[in-house]
Amino acid sequence: MRYLEDVVLKKWSAAVLAGALAVGALAGCGGGDDAGSGDSGGGGGKITMGFSQVGAESGWRTANTKSIQESAATAGIDLKFSDAQGKQENQIKAIRSFIAQRVDVIAFSPVVESGWDTVLKEAKDANIPVILTDRSVDSQDKTLYKSFIGSDFVLEGKKAGEWLVKEYEGKPEPVNIVELQGSPGAAPANDRKAGFAEVIKADPKFKVIASQTGQFTRTDGKEVMEAFLKAHQDIDVLYAHNDDMGLGAIEAIEAAGKKPGTDIKIITVDAVKDGMTALAAGKINYIVECSPLLGPQLMDLAKKVKAGETVEQRVVTEETTFTQEQAKAALPDRKY
Ligand code: AHR
Repeated sequence: MRYLEDVVLKKWSAAVLAGALAVGALAGCGGGDDAGSGDSGGGGGKITMGFSQVGAESGWRTANTKSIQESAATAGIDLKFSDAQGKQENQIKAIRSFIAQRVDVIAFSPVVESGWDTVLKEAKDANIPVILTDRSVDSQDKTLYKSFIGSDFVLEGKKAGEWLVKEYEGKPEPVNIVELQGSPGAAPANDRKAGFAEVIKADPKFKVIASQTGQFTRTDGKEVMEAFLKAHQDIDVLYAHNDDMGLGAIEAIEAAGKKPGTDIKIITVDAVKDGMTALAAGKINYIVECSPLLGPQLMDLAKKVKAGETVEQRVVTEETTFTQEQAKAALPDRKY
């Protein structure tokens, strides 16, 4: 009799334990929303993510790298980080190495838009999901990646154009614009140019008299602006595709004896701390925000993808714009 009781008790304990494990596993799968839980999700072991970053060209990029590294640590994701130093060939090498290492998820911010199909197909054939962050690729086959999280760069360009149109409302004189483009072939350079052009074309008084790449860096922004100032005496507006190029250009404008923000109006994109400081000081007139804080959402997506959940193909980052007054108010709390 005693023996029978022991057997029943053991069976009951085993059933309770199995039930508890099942609930725990489910909680782990569904826990993808809590990036701070330390649970890698997916119901299995720790997730390994291979991440290929563009480089360290701007304040935005530094903040983006920090966001990704810190969020991975918080989410309990093992991050293999690789810096492509602005070269597509380095990114392709890094992705191939992540495939060889059999990471769970590959994420990357593509240096340029084109030329990814072959390596993305290799990842797909190896059954390793890819998530694009910050910038997209122009591949027609959308099954080559699971999701793309990042800004709407065309919209950013449009916002810059809309501010300009409003600023010169009711003033019929021609407005001479110089443009500092981002690195050639990069999605934000292509799209910010296109969005801006689409809005200002409505009024022929807006003329882009010079447009050249400043590689998204302060040094190149300064150099190219120096050349613009030498070639054109009548620049009214500078549109820079990021804060760093705008900040470099400010140095060139001041060295040429002109007042940035007054003699030449300046619009930039990003809203990093240095840009916001210059905006609050009246040296920049308007900044369109582009958020670099993509880490938490990226880790969340990685957990869901690893757990086999369906994720949205496109996650658009929420962003705003800043006038000089708004920058003064936002600066004390600006984290990056
Ligand atoms: O892809 C985002 C862009 O890349 C940022 O606007 C720019 O600063 C960075 O280098």
